[in-house]
Amino acid sequence: MAKGCMRCHGDDLGGKMFINDPRKLGQFAATNLTPGKGGFSPGNGYRNWVLALKHGVRDNRKPLFVMPSHEFTQLTEADMAAIIAYGASLPKVDRELPESRVGPLGRILAELNQVPLFPAEMIDHNRKLVKEMKTEVSLGYGQYLSVACQACHRPTMKGGGPIAPGFPTVPDISSQGNPGKWTDEQFMTTLRTGKTPEGKTMNPKNMPWPTMKVYTDTELKALHLYLKSK
Ligand code: HEC
Ligand code: HEC
Repeated sequence: MAKGCMRCHGDDLGGKMFINDPRKLGQFAATNLTPGKGGFSPGNGYRNWVLALKHGVRDNRKPLFVMPSHEFTQLTEADMAAIIAYGASLPKVDRELPESRVGPLGRILAELNQVPLFPAEMIDHNRKLVKEMKTEVSLGYGQYLSVACQACHRPTMKGGGPIAPGFPTVPDISSQGNPGKWTDEQFMTTLRTGKTPEGKTMNPKNMPWPTMKVYTDTELKALHLYLKSK
């Protein structure tokens, strides 16, 4: 699960400028999550983690910028606790990052609702977390895991336009798309090797399949079952 965080916060979770395009999209810095210099306030313990992951805000209630909390708010209590325990145990990394700035194109995309700048606005803050989810090949568990695919493949799983300029069109992975025709084995091989049965090799910069190696057979089968139901 924490693998998904590395895409923006860096492999050591010590923070990263994950979009650096000052003249167009802007400069987007994901916080150093370690207790090192420039890092996320360690003194405040778990509370700040919960505020960030469940509510998309800082402890002063200011909404976090671009951090996809609208996805993480759907985690079960058990999974959120596991991420926080892992986060709280990170070794120090000293790294200070400049503040984020939205560029002119970023502003336009935000106006068009292509990029949610403040995901806190999309969260139902009163919703209670589900305690735990049974690890089994079921539609419910597949739907739960599919939250990790929504930002790009959309909640419908039918894909759509590029998530930002310079990225490819996002394919339909529902029953109507290619995964609808694949066996479970082909689906698992695709996500583990980045090669599709049709012979396409996916670029990890566009489709983060290397972070999906952590999924077990049961998880991938549940995901596939869910995708085929859409
Ligand atoms: C799409 C990129 C992206 C992903 C993926 C992402 N984050 Fe973030 N995160 C950000 C950005 C950007 C900020 C800084 C927000 C700001 O400055 O307002 C942030 C801020 C945070 C903060 C708040 C720090 C503070 O100052 O209060 C925490 C905690 C956090 N992220 C944890 C996580 C965890 C844990 C994951 C994985 C489960 C994760 N993030 C995945 C982009 C991301
Ligand atoms: C950061 C955006 C992003 C996320 C997150 C993401 N994908 Fe993708 N995915 C893409 C893009 C872009 C492509 C097309 C890649 C290409 O053209 O090389 C793709 C391609 C695919 C394909 C191949 C489809 C085909 O027709 O060849 C599958 C299968 C897939 N994704 C499954 C998933 C699953 C399952 C998840 C969630 C666990 C997920 N993706 C999360 C962006 C994403």
